[in-house]
Amino acid sequence: LLKFFRAPFFEIWRDIVGDRLEHYLSQSIKQDELGVSIKNTILSLSNASKKIAKSLAKNGLPENQLGTQVGDINSDGDTQKALDLIADEKIVTALKNKNVVAYFSEEQESALLLHPEGNLIVCADPLDGSSNIDNNTSVGTIFSILPRKTEVFEAEQLLRDALQSGINQLASGFFVYGPQTSLILTTGKGAAAFLLDKEEFFKMEWEPNLPTKASQFAINMSNMRFWSQRTRSYIQSCLDGTEGTFAKNYNMRWCGSLVADAWRIFREGGIFLYPEDKRDNYNEGRLRLVYEANPLSFLVEQAGGRATDGTTDILNIQPGSLHQRVPLIFGSEEEVIKYESLNK
Ligand code: AHG
Ligand code: MN
Ligand code: MN
Repeated sequence: LLKFFRAPFFEIWRDIVGDRLEHYLSQSIKQDELGVSIKNTILSLSNASKKIAKSLAKNGLPENQLGTQVGDINSDGDTQKALDLIADEKIVTALKNKNVVAYFSEEQESALLLHPEGNLIVCADPLDGSSNIDNNTSVGTIFSILPRKTEVFEAEQLLRDALQSGINQLASGFFVYGPQTSLILTTGKGAAAFLLDKEEFFKMEWEPNLPTKASQFAINMSNMRFWSQRTRSYIQSCLDGTEGTFAKNYNMRWCGSLVADAWRIFREGGIFLYPEDKRDNYNEGRLRLVYEANPLSFLVEQAGGRATDGTTDILNIQPGSLHQRVPLIFGSEEEVIKYESLNK
């Protein structure tokens, strides 16, 4: 009987006192004009994520073939999947409020002008892990929020605002569409995790907090023959286990969705590596600085971890172009420092 009443009681209790995303945002951001814009924009992105999760949940039904290749090749040379474009469109629709002056996306060549009075720039990877859409494997949405610096309402000028270094981010986060629809978010005062339940995001008890030490690495091992000496030597030391220079055994995980690997690392610690390699067009790795590496790195540093391209902290890199790639190594500080201290 107790069990029967327990569940609804806790749900009712949580609905009353649960820490909703809106409540967390009101508490964690000064509610001046900029702060209210940031709060509204994150809530808008969370509304888009609910719609993307719903579309994905029906993928594969006759009218829903979201993994099919559609239209063009995006600016980064990736084929665009139906859900890439659907996710992008849901985000654009959600952002049509007065807070955002321009939106920059993996799936768009350059700026999408939104509201002339907007005081924020939003950069996003609308659907991360596209190769997994039809595999029923977690995929997600990554976003970065920057301050508007340019007065004029003009695409080329506003592009400069999207190319601010990551240290200028006001907020960043990523949604994961998996067994749970979830969000890891920072507004510059630590990192927090949220879970979607009945159309609301509730703050989780667990706080993303990267342990300094770890013994789990995430890398696409099939690229080993293309790696630099440094990457080979770091991974070899992990594989050598207790007999090797790192004198401990490691485990390996690789999801092929940055957001899924990142969520696990925020939960358990570890190191993620997508380094440069010798393949054509991979001399700067695969991941994009502005809308993948920067938002992830802001979160990683807020959660006590470290994020680098192997030489420079990601957040200190000055972007040169919207879709530029960057080698990305992030996670538990001790492991990232081991990688950085190896000769290139
Ligand atoms: P996207 O689907 O936005 O292009 O991102 C995919 C990225 C990232 O999610 C993942 O870590 C990486 O691609 C996987 O790359 P490989 O397929 O080369 O392993
Ligand atoms: Mn991506
Ligand atoms: Mn993508």
